[in-house]
Amino acid sequence: MELNRTCLPENYPEIFFREILAAYPRFFIVAEKDSETVLSQDPEAYSIVKLMREKELKTLTVERLMNLKNITYDESKRLLEKVLNYSEKLPPPFKFFRKNFENGLSKYELISDPKIIGYIMCRIESGISSFGFKWVKKGHIVSIAVDYPYRKQGVGGEILSRALKEMEKANTAEQVLEVRTSNYEAIRIYEKLGFKTVKTIKGYYHDGADAYLMVRASSGKNEN
Ligand SMILES: CC(C)(COP(=O)(O)OP(=O)(O)OC[C@H]1O[C@@H](n2cnc3c(N)ncnc32)[C@H](O)[C@@H]1OP(=O)(O)O)[C@@H](O)C(=O)NCCC(=O)NCCS
Repeated sequence: MELNRTCLPENYPEIFFREILAAYPRFFIVAEKDSETVLSQDPEAYSIVKLMREKELKTLTVERLMNLKNITYDESKRLLEKVLNYSEKLPPPFKFFRKNFENGLSKYELISDPKIIGYIMCRIESGISSFGFKWVKKGHIVSIAVDYPYRKQGVGGEILSRALKEMEKANTAEQVLEVRTSNYEAIRIYEKLGFKTVKTIKGYYHDGADAYLMVRASSGKNEN
């Protein structure tokens, strides 16, 4: 809801989010900035972050980890460097671990907690197809947003692709959305993922702005 408020002019009440989540959980996807996801393939590295969270430690030294895990200095250093290495490979806003030097000591710091950085919510509807005169099941993209510092790094495209895949699995013949005609950023992503503008809806938004109605046929069903 906070993302919706900061990223979009159309703000919905809590009940609206709750109802969509309850009715269509598979199409309500959030992107989390979360070291757990990055480290999910590596239980050894993840155990260090987990330990820090459990003990509410913001920083850790090689010596402190040595004592906590009853391991050698070299082993302790190897583990901390391993976690650091995962973090260093990420673009700046996604980094979760860093190393500082203080009084001759290396301090490893956990710099982020799990945080939702993007969401998409969709619902199933039915209506006349945009590709021919027949009644079809449609997936309607109700809202999508990615927080400012995390944009242009593939998050929006990823959550949208996943939602589209889920809606195809739910046997929707097509997916639809409305977008402000001035929202070039969003329109480009939609076009990249197969959406086409089928009409302009005059004065669709409360501030009088026009919307494009964009439609995409499920894979294998799009004649274009
Ligand atoms: C629309 C929105 C969700 C897109 O989210 P996003 O995370 O920035 O989307 P992506 O990163 O997947 O794609 C955006 C652009 O970044 C590019 N990009 C993706 N990964 C990249 C990377 N690693 N390095 C550089 N560029 C990258 C994409 O190719 C795309 O560029 P293009 O538009 O020139 O093709 C976001 O701008 C937003 O929240 N806008 C406000 C809310 C909104 O308008 N919602 C839609 C209402 S209908």
